[in-house]
Amino acid sequence: MGEANWFDDDIERIVVTEQQIHDKIEELAKQVAADYAGVDSLLLVGVLKGAVMFMADFSRALGRLARPAELEFMAVSSYGQRATSSGVVRILKDLDRDIAGRHVIVVEDIVDSGLTLSWLLRYLDSRSAASVEVVALLRKPDAIKVDVPVKYVGFDIPNEFVVGYGLDFGERYREMPYIGVLRPSVYSRT
Ligand code: IMP
Repeated sequence: MGEANWFDDDIERIVVTEQQIHDKIEELAKQVAADYAGVDSLLLVGVLKGAVMFMADFSRALGRLARPAELEFMAVSSYGQRATSSGVVRILKDLDRDIAGRHVIVVEDIVDSGLTLSWLLRYLDSRSAASVEVVALLRKPDAIKVDVPVKYVGFDIPNEFVVGYGLDFGERYREMPYIGVLRPSVYSRT
């Protein structure tokens, strides 16, 4: 704490604080650890780049609860407009290993329209995982276009564009430790 950060002035309103993120991750990890108590090793699939912070903190929280996990990453890109998702997904980076027979948890930053996730779940199913569930730090219930089963949700937030903790606007703000809404002046600057 103390010194102001370069990004603080660009933020109109904080939506989820650093402390709230921390506490929620502990809570989610406890739920997952309890639900998968009988599973030898979980396979966490993080979706780059947005989920990178969440993946790092969530996997460490699981580790402290003595639940071993392997970490995999995928990168996907949806065609269409910048801040909205068209549901047409292109794989930029595929899984490095076979997930057949594995218990998979997709680690997502945010479920907005749900289109990316819905595509991803179909894709993982087609690779014969033993089970596939989703943990998402954020969800915008008012933006959902397709019904996707998200078993573990951190926070339901209003339908507005947020940045921080992995989420970007034009590749900026990912390193912010909290989640917030940008001032309108930031958009007119670009
Ligand atoms: P969806 O397919 O609409 O559910 O969202 C796909 C992706 O868009 C998410 O995984 C995020 O990376 C990105 N996204 C959605 N909403 C936001 C936001 O409010 N801020 C930053 N990125 C977002």
